[in-house]
Amino acid sequence: MALKDNTEIDKDKIPVHVAVIMDGNGRWAKRKGKERVVGHQHGVKAVREVTEAAAELGVKYLTLFAFSTENWQRPSDEVNALMSLLVTTLNAEISTLMENNIKLRTIGNLDIMPAQVRKNLMKTIDRTAENKGMTLILALSYSARWEIAKAAREMARDATEGKLNVDSIDELLFSEYLQTKDIPDPDILIRTSGEYRISNFLLWQIAYTELYFTKKLWPDIRKKDLVKAIIDYQRRERRFGRISEQTKMNVDR
Ligand code: FPP
Repeated sequence: MALKDNTEIDKDKIPVHVAVIMDGNGRWAKRKGKERVVGHQHGVKAVREVTEAAAELGVKYLTLFAFSTENWQRPSDEVNALMSLLVTTLNAEISTLMENNIKLRTIGNLDIMPAQVRKNLMKTIDRTAENKGMTLILALSYSARWEIAKAAREMARDATEGKLNVDSIDELLFSEYLQTKDIPDPDILIRTSGEYRISNFLLWQIAYTELYFTKKLWPDIRKKDLVKAIIDYQRRERRFGRISEQTKMNVDR
């Protein structure tokens, strides 16, 4: 389905990277008197809508926070249901990914994901590897503090082995040790469900990201909601620590 509500969008100012904290599945289900897992099932439609809309608009990277390190502490029934849903969705949506020229990749600790999930992820990553449109990044078993601690550990190891000069460590080099090393920082971070938190997501990468919050619960999110968020983003002035006059002169970041 093509986008209809995007007349107000400035096609020259599409964010390169959109990151999303998909929140509110459990509350959506509870409000309807259903099990939490029903909220996750309906969340898949919102994943498809937002992914398709982002690809149609020309977004280059879309990162979805699908499962956090902390989510492992949820009741095992819910964790298992989420893992199965992931496998089912990967298999069902591979054609959507191919039709929309989308490449799949992941960030997070895949080593602790169930073997079946890993296998299906690898299969989908392989099948979509040559797609040149948008990159869809699923954050799975991900937390920013885990990522940063891992980077520090790997840097320390490289330094001990003489592969890294400690004095050469700066922001750029640190970024090279993060999971997102070849991905530009998000331009906009969207969180649904009316919570105003970052919840351990991309802490390093969002230093200058525009934050957008909506009260809508994730399963209710549709293409037009992404369009709305992007229009809001396009009205903002991004100064990256400079003053307004400098940004208007188009000074490089
Ligand atoms: C947050 O809602 C959502 C999640 C922890 C999981 C997100 C998963 C999906 C949208 C479905 C599958 C995803 C993919 C990529 C196929 P919550 O459970 O924390 O909601 P609550 O705050 O209302 O309890």
